[in-house]
Amino acid sequence: MCGIVAYSGKKECSKLIIDGLKKLEYRGYDSAGISLEKDNEIITLKAVGRVENLEKLVKKEEIQSFCAIGHTRWATHGKPCEINSHPHNDCTDTISIVHNGIIENYAPLKAELERKGHIFKSQTDSEVVAHLIEENLKTQDFTHAFCQTIKQVRGAYAIAALYAKEPGKIMAAKNQSPLVLGVAKDGVFLASDVPAFLAHTNKAIFLEDGDIVQIEISTYKIFNTDLKAQPRKVNEVNWDFTTAQKGGYKHFMLKEIYEQPRSAQDTLRTLKGSFEQVFGLTKKEAKKIKGVYLVACGTAYHASLCAKYMLEDFAQIPVEVETASEFKYRKIAFCKDWLFIAVSQSGETADTIAAIKNAKEAGLKVMSVCNVVGSTITRLSDITLYTHCGPEISVASTKAFTSQLVVLYSFALNLALALGRLTQTEFDNLYSSLEKLPELMKEVLSQDSKIKELAKEVFTKKDFIFLGRNSSYPIALEGALKLKEISYLHAEGFAAGEIKHGPIAVIEEGTPVLALVPQGVLEEKMLSNCQEVKARGAQVIMIRDSKEKAKAIHIPFEKEFLFPILSVIALQFFAYYIAVLKGRDVDRPRNLAKSVTVE
Ligand code: M6R
Repeated sequence: MCGIVAYSGKKECSKLIIDGLKKLEYRGYDSAGISLEKDNEIITLKAVGRVENLEKLVKKEEIQSFCAIGHTRWATHGKPCEINSHPHNDCTDTISIVHNGIIENYAPLKAELERKGHIFKSQTDSEVVAHLIEENLKTQDFTHAFCQTIKQVRGAYAIAALYAKEPGKIMAAKNQSPLVLGVAKDGVFLASDVPAFLAHTNKAIFLEDGDIVQIEISTYKIFNTDLKAQPRKVNEVNWDFTTAQKGGYKHFMLKEIYEQPRSAQDTLRTLKGSFEQVFGLTKKEAKKIKGVYLVACGTAYHASLCAKYMLEDFAQIPVEVETASEFKYRKIAFCKDWLFIAVSQSGETADTIAAIKNAKEAGLKVMSVCNVVGSTITRLSDITLYTHCGPEISVASTKAFTSQLVVLYSFALNLALALGRLTQTEFDNLYSSLEKLPELMKEVLSQDSKIKELAKEVFTKKDFIFLGRNSSYPIALEGALKLKEISYLHAEGFAAGEIKHGPIAVIEEGTPVLALVPQGVLEEKMLSNCQEVKARGAQVIMIRDSKEKAKAIHIPFEKEFLFPILSVIALQFFAYYIAVLKGRDVDRPRNLAKSVTVE
């Protein structure tokens, strides 16, 4: 997730772009850059770190420009450094582009362009766009060359481009990454999100996938890649700045819950390719792995617990899961041929870092699953698999959790194939279901208001119990953690079979019990557990993927192994609405920090 701002109009715009980028820093702040058009030339300035570093450079240079593009980066391909910062230029520095998203087919495109003599400066996927435009400009004007380029790239993108020889003109395209047009009196803005231009205009056009925009000094046209006009409505946005930053949602947590189909999609997209390319291990190395240690904290620990079921089930290798704070201070009889996997959203959790250091000292290969490029954990790891969520702002982790599961599930299935524990046909069948996740997630999101109503029924209760079996057990733990951390209520998750061994004693008249009941061999057992607690007075709320119970929260059924990733979304909503009803500070709950950098 990165932020784009562009402007063409009658106002000097370097400050407009810098101010816009500052408003988009919530989308990433690894580096920032700007390309300003002046006298048929493009001047590009970049700075690592926050937008204020770029602002100092821009002030020093004092360039007067009326047409410019800017970018604040959240690194995905290539580490955060000046060379990888946007904007990117072609070979002759006459084209400049900014990009948010992932160009899936950049590797073959880059190879082809290199064969034609193009020289690349960065390690990004984005730079390929500038070179493609340059190549296409050999036979046509900027508008046509840009449209041809968009036909050639595959993936998710919001792109804006300048061409020095056609001053005042910005070309832009959108597919699966947000892009909004801001129509002001004296110019036209283009941005990843409304806050970037809200100080200048509240007239916004939310572009649709496949749209191409051409801006020329205060005027704009929207068409498709075949230049067919696309009529789009101008909306009046009546949000204040903070609401706009949250995309109109009341809290970042709710926005991030809703972002899950997109972050799952972006993550899945990066997991395509050969086993070695994607997972950084040769098949020969994979065959030497005799077991896996999965170590993490909090929500990432629950993702690790869930992954254990997948790795043991599909790849049939033993897995040990432990919280990093325990792993660090225990004498471990390390097995040298086990792979150590650390899971962390921030990549800065002190306990996880300490556990990695232990594993490294013991000579283990370290793989990490992480959301932040260049973070400490990625630097300590031999291999990093990224979740592509963009910054997660709410303290309560939501989209990072489901994306961690996407990565770990993909690893489990691919490892199983590499080890010969799944046939190609079995693998294809399971993987095609995994790829349906973004669409299935949208179905769970459509349960929002039903879950809100359920939350209203129980938010005054003091104790909440979450039950699950097998791979839904970690989801019960995660559901309880979510509720605890943002509502401050007492909540506990249990393996449902365990409750009769003690915890059932806490059930009294009206105690809410959230039961995860997927179809499959354990469905009947779970239903019996529900009866056991009901008989003691519990108010049971079931989360099911079979349709027969009208009162249950319904999860779409695709394959049993997807139930945890889908059902957790229902529990995120549940925790969210209880916290809202209790008037809690949802995004910044008391006593907690987003990243725990002390042991
Ligand atoms: O950044 P990390 O994934 O390493 O953070 C680990 C935990 O601190 C984190 O998941 C925490 O439990 C969340 N607040 C849960 O919502």
